[in-house]
Amino acid sequence: MKGKRIAADHRGDIMECIILAGGFGTRLRPVTFRIPKPIIPLLNRPMIMHLIDSLPREIDRVVLAVNYKKEMLDDFFREKENLHGTGREIRLVEEREPLGTGGAIKNCEPLISDTFLVFNGDVIQSLDPSDLIRFHRTRGGIGTLAVWRVEDPTRYGIIGFDEDHRIHRFMEKPAPGEVFSNWINAGSYVLDPEIFDHIPAGKKVSIEREVYPFITERGLNAYPFRGFWVDAGTRGDFLRATSAIMEHRGVAISMGQGNVIHPGAILLPPVLIGNNCTIEDAVIGPCAVMGDGSRIGGGSIIENTTLLRSVRVGAGSMIRDSIIGEGYIVGEGSEITGSILDRETG
Ligand code: GDD
Ligand code: MG
Repeated sequence: MKGKRIAADHRGDIMECIILAGGFGTRLRPVTFRIPKPIIPLLNRPMIMHLIDSLPREIDRVVLAVNYKKEMLDDFFREKENLHGTGREIRLVEEREPLGTGGAIKNCEPLISDTFLVFNGDVIQSLDPSDLIRFHRTRGGIGTLAVWRVEDPTRYGIIGFDEDHRIHRFMEKPAPGEVFSNWINAGSYVLDPEIFDHIPAGKKVSIEREVYPFITERGLNAYPFRGFWVDAGTRGDFLRATSAIMEHRGVAISMGQGNVIHPGAILLPPVLIGNNCTIEDAVIGPCAVMGDGSRIGGGSIIENTTLLRSVRVGAGSMIRDSIIGEGYIVGEGSEITGSILDRETG
């Protein structure tokens, strides 16, 4: 098995990175009926690009482990390569049937030559991957997992570690009575290729349930970091990730080009407006995002909401805590709260 990997000294500091980007994005339906979660625009930028943008230069190959709507992801990256170039090789590896987090990583083994990074593709965070890599290099062991502290960890994988940052326990989705730690698995890992020896090939494997709990004695480290962290896989968390990034970047009112804004419009920061939008005398914000070409009628209120491209909002409407899909038309005087809407379901 080791033979097929390129020796580490051939590649120097260059590293590969796997992004787990399969999954159906069920909790962002109906938008994910049309586009896969990784390319849903968050702050007008496909979600996965926030992660790819954060990668250090030494990551020269990004392997996306995909299944659902692979063709759309293929097209997206092909087009992106042509238009802007990501400066690095992007490879899509398809699972015919979803293999789970561990199985998906195992499936990418032929493209991995040395110590590598793994990310859950739905996480929006301030983690600097270089810091994680550095931490792992000083600690050694089979892997290092970024960890984040939360009040209620039952939706996540929980991690017990000592003052020396050595992980001694891992439990995925604990029941309330089983919680032994408020530190959760943040879904970013540096792993040694030795990990592949602990994942059976050709079958569905959860790295969280079937691998991590059993390899702690191989040297698994916990890396806590500061800033923000959100698993953006639900409507509420998608909107929380949106406001977290705006706050982190100090966005007040950010606007593209070609927008027509009525003098009576009120923009409450933070607000991000794309290009060629029209806003009548409406109230936009706080925490509102408008995709290119969107139009808001007079007297409307748009708060804590993301409108994807070319959304039309009729006059006198109120939209709060929602995600509105590309091209959707909101009729005059609508009231929408806590919803995800997309064209087919409109
Ligand atoms: N390629 C592929 N194949 N990707 C997958 C598959 C699969 O079969 N299953 C899940 N993924 C991807 C998802 O698209 C997502 O990016 C990532 O793996 C994690 O899967 P989720 O389904 O979002 O898991 P979760 O959020 O319930 O839990 C995971 O993330 C938490 C942090 O957000 C676990 O890693 C937890 O331990 C962790 O705390
Ligand atoms: Mg998730």
